[in-house]
Amino acid sequence: MLCKVCRNKATVEVRQHNAAYCNSCFVNYFLKQVQRNIQAQKMFSPQDRILVVVSGGKDSLSLWDALIRLGYRVTALYLDLGIDGYSERSGEKCRALAARTGTPLHIVSIKEEFGLSVPELARKTRRIPCAVCGRIKRYLFNKFALEGGFDVVATGHNLDDEAAALLGNLLHWQTGYLARQEPNLPASHPKLIRKVKPLYTLTERECLAYALIQQISYLAEDCPYAEGATSITYKEALNHIEQAAPGTKLAFFKGFLRHKDLFKNQEDGLELKECSRCGQITTGDVCSVCRLREKATAPPKRPAS
Ligand code: FES
Ligand code: ZN
Repeated sequence: MLCKVCRNKATVEVRQHNAAYCNSCFVNYFLKQVQRNIQAQKMFSPQDRILVVVSGGKDSLSLWDALIRLGYRVTALYLDLGIDGYSERSGEKCRALAARTGTPLHIVSIKEEFGLSVPELARKTRRIPCAVCGRIKRYLFNKFALEGGFDVVATGHNLDDEAAALLGNLLHWQTGYLARQEPNLPASHPKLIRKVKPLYTLTERECLAYALIQQISYLAEDCPYAEGATSITYKEALNHIEQAAPGTKLAFFKGFLRHKDLFKNQEDGLELKECSRCGQITTGDVCSVCRLREKATAPPKRPAS
């Protein structure tokens, strides 16, 4: 197999585009795709201050690296979830890339912010860790971006993540979620920061190839609480189809973006207000994170005598 660009020996096959590249042409292709996505979706400009949320995995670290190489003003944020061993190992990977690239990395510890780690918060409130985790992450990265004066928050969601989320939303006809599923999610309130996903056309395999070629040291293990998540089942189903018909995932997601107007007016229309405790944006009087914190730190109920 020869590289589509330079005709040297190819090392990476990109089946969704029926193409193959050598290492250096693949890196160019990857960076061009990221740049094209940023421009096509009007995500940000070189003047904007971008907060990239990193987890230590291949996708977010590849995004961070790519944005630096494309000349954007990036600062990274790592949220330490307090998951035994896993969080230390993920944090190390983020610190290593920060040192290598000489770019700023901020670390926010959930245990320091809330007095409890994600697994402890989940246990105390009798919820599943992923649900607690997702909510807290969204809350903290918005708060950090707002207080730090960032223009936009970028996350490493790739095409596999987006196509799996789309499949899940369609299977359950979550029309409100479909209306809000966007690679460039506008801020619907002055205290909410815009969220963008510059890797939305690149597969997990392509992000992996980029990380390997660029010798980015990333954490290969999944979060211990991810096992059994439905998103994994949807990804497997889509991979099965992709295997038989390469390009389906991309066509599925791009087709959805073209037909997004079908789901306009499906937003739940809830009024956004400021939480009476912390000032972050919510639909009730007290935001779900403040309620979670109160529930987790409430003294245990005494048994009735
Ligand atoms: Fe959040 Fe696993 S529970 S990453
Ligand atoms: Zn609150």
